[in-house]
Amino acid sequence: MILNTLHDYVADVSPSLIITATVGLLMFMGLLTFISSVSEDVLPGVPELKGFPVLGALPSHLINGIPDTINRLIAIGSEGISYANVVSNVLVSVHEPALVREVLGYPDEIASREGDTSGGRMSWSPFLTLRRMCGQLSLFNYAGPGTRQQRSVYIREFNSNKSNMEKFDSVRRIAKDHADMLVADVDDIRYSADNFAIALWGETLYGNPHQNADDKVLNLSNTIMDLAGDPWPAIWYYIQLLFHIVSPGQATGSEAKLRSRVVEVVSHNIAKLEEYEAMNPKAPLKTIRNLSVNTGGGQTGRLSKVASEFANLNLFGGHHSIGLNVTWCLIELDKHPEQLSRLMGEIDAADTTDFAVVNNKMPYLDAVVTETNRIHPTVHATLRVINRETRLASASDVGKRDVILKPGMMVFISYLHLHTSEKFWGPDARQFVPERFLEPGRYNKEKMPLMSFGYGPRNCVGYKFAIMAVKVYLITLLKTYKIDLKDHNHEGKLGTLLEPSKPVAVRATRRT
Ligand code: HEM
Repeated sequence: MILNTLHDYVADVSPSLIITATVGLLMFMGLLTFISSVSEDVLPGVPELKGFPVLGALPSHLINGIPDTINRLIAIGSEGISYANVVSNVLVSVHEPALVREVLGYPDEIASREGDTSGGRMSWSPFLTLRRMCGQLSLFNYAGPGTRQQRSVYIREFNSNKSNMEKFDSVRRIAKDHADMLVADVDDIRYSADNFAIALWGETLYGNPHQNADDKVLNLSNTIMDLAGDPWPAIWYYIQLLFHIVSPGQATGSEAKLRSRVVEVVSHNIAKLEEYEAMNPKAPLKTIRNLSVNTGGGQTGRLSKVASEFANLNLFGGHHSIGLNVTWCLIELDKHPEQLSRLMGEIDAADTTDFAVVNNKMPYLDAVVTETNRIHPTVHATLRVINRETRLASASDVGKRDVILKPGMMVFISYLHLHTSEKFWGPDARQFVPERFLEPGRYNKEKMPLMSFGYGPRNCVGYKFAIMAVKVYLITLLKTYKIDLKDHNHEGKLGTLLEPSKPVAVRATRRT
């Protein structure tokens, strides 16, 4: 696998450059050996995941991936914090609610997703890889003075009841069209759910529910997601940077190819939007146009900068998470027939054509979706890169007097750990129990960290739209079919997202 990955990147460059790069890398390592031999403990009193001299945890990080490094850090940091050196980078894991809340509460000046890499400082942040592949990604990797204003535009568009009520009928229509397309033997229900979400985005943003013809969007977003969670692109980029093959922030050859596919799909979508607008001059504005108008763009023509950046982000963000959420709900309901029958009772008794009902008058459905997001948070981890030296104040709560986070340190946070640790949730932490959110006094918000949509000033600005889409598709599927999973054992696989480790084949029998 490593050789294949290397081959993909190496294909960009000539053999002589590769040899020069390798010699240069060895010299660079030698220099780092010297530096590391004279350097001191970076976080005194905090457990360190020991690795090789100079390379630190790099070999395991490359071979086993980022989620494995995070898990190993959690295992050694019983007090909620630990760290590893990875060459010249320091990866810190915080995994105690108070510490996590503090870090996610930092403003961008103290910590952000990408961090400050001016001066060529190495960073493993997957968000930088995403930026090289897709360009600026709207709010997701913006950390500047207009953040609050941008967030309020998104929140009005995706997290307000008013705008979601306006979208409700088209969500139902797309859900019905997609549910009707299901055949009796479905090879992978996740594929159908992803397709529903992509069509929904196509319709909502551009008036084009067919944007995924030939699986173009799905294939592209799968490639982007895989690379974002892979540490190799960062290595390859820094080697090229070291030898001035690329300039800071510039995409490598293979990343540039991917970027041109992104530009192609986004341009196609925008052409479809203009077609839709020309044919429906009196129709309400499509969502991407609304975003544009609310961030300085006109009623027609070129989109504002923020809106066109959202078109980039939307290519890989938003649909997998919705599709996976539906898939994990079906997996859990299949394993828990009692809960499924309680849910069916609620669905059958409700007027699911009414937005107000689906939005907040179906408590058991809400509990099922929340519980699914708890044990299977599709965004299972995040990170912040420290920009300004900061004392981690809440570390004193876990018996550490002075933990000083320094610029460039990367702080990893595992939402999956916070959601499933018995330490916070009790002995049934890993079990699917939607009732925990319904029985009075059972769910303690303070002690039981629930962060499926993040936390703090950079939490998710689209979660209400996402939850509505998940609920509507789930209701539509369950009302139309009896869904039986062919294989009842599905484990999670930690990649960039938390996915089922194999296709989720189902038998869909139409209800009469
Ligand atoms: C089930 C679906 C979704 C899940 C699980 C999800 C999860 C998350 C999480 C965990 C974060 C915080 C990441 C961090 O802490 O670094 C986040 C941020 C974000 N999400 Fe979502 N999200 C979903 C759907 C959406 C949708 C539909 C939108 C559409 C607008 C969206 C837009 C964003 C943006 C722009 C941010 C960054 C906000 C900022 O930095 O200020 N997400 N999401």
